[in-house]
Amino acid sequence: MTSRFTHKHLIQASSLSSEDISFLFDRTSFYLSHLRSSAPKRQELSGISLVFAFFENSTRTRMSFETAARELSADLYSFQAQASSTNKGESLLDTIRNLEAMRRLKILIMRHPHSGAPDFLSTRVQCSIVNGGDGWHQHPTQGLLDAFTLKAYFGEIQSLRVCIVGDILHSRVARSNIEILKTLGAEVAVCAPGTLLPRALEAFGVRVFHHIDDAVAWADALNMLRIQNERMDSGLLPFTEYPSNFGLRMEKLHTRQPVILHPGPINRGVELSSEVADSSHSLILQQVEHGVAVRMAVLASIAENLRL
Ligand code: CP
Repeated sequence: MTSRFTHKHLIQASSLSSEDISFLFDRTSFYLSHLRSSAPKRQELSGISLVFAFFENSTRTRMSFETAARELSADLYSFQAQASSTNKGESLLDTIRNLEAMRRLKILIMRHPHSGAPDFLSTRVQCSIVNGGDGWHQHPTQGLLDAFTLKAYFGEIQSLRVCIVGDILHSRVARSNIEILKTLGAEVAVCAPGTLLPRALEAFGVRVFHHIDDAVAWADALNMLRIQNERMDSGLLPFTEYPSNFGLRMEKLHTRQPVILHPGPINRGVELSSEVADSSHSLILQQVEHGVAVRMAVLASIAENLRL
């Protein structure tokens, strides 16, 4: 397997060409087979130190990157953001420069509530930066794992109809998904109340639906986003009407059965009923499994460039 992935960082999905994504997907398939086997750990990250700096809560992204890094034999260092001197007012840049001064940090995997934080750091520090989600902006490995899951299910992404449903306004997952899916030739739509759509929506180049029934009628796959209460100003959401107009229950799937994705965590009973989330239409746990293999592919590819 030769590297054609030349990126030092992975910060936003728009930096990835279709060739980059194909390369990462080939590698993801390889690592998925590895994960499903009882083969010993691989050595691609042996001798490479990774620091996790998560300034926002995470279950899937954090544990998935950690599983991926351990499976590739990385040296892991965990920076506890909540218990760090950032709480005394130390800046993000000073914090990461101090970690670099300890001479081991090669790859920083970070999540931050402020859009643009990884991009800001990438021009000011020496290490590689992998974005595990920044504010409303980007979540590139989530976009990759969602697209990989669709490719694994349908065989091809080209001309696939994918509708992203819910809180598009606050969603880094939506932004990364739209960029990756369009790069791969999918037809992409969004479905949301007007108050949860970005103002500059035309720049996204997507169709727009305003009722879940229209999305179900059109799509091969629905990516149901979490309602992000922590980023929501009061008044943006018709909360009592949301489940019936934008949520998915089993009775909505009687005439057509698009497959269902959700990045997690799910608000059961709001964007998805439990019956749908746990049904045969749902690819949600496959997304999680694929996420580890995608992150192995990303980390191994970036590490290869570090060794050149
Ligand atoms: N999908 C996702 O980013 O989940 P976490 O917030 O749990 O990492």
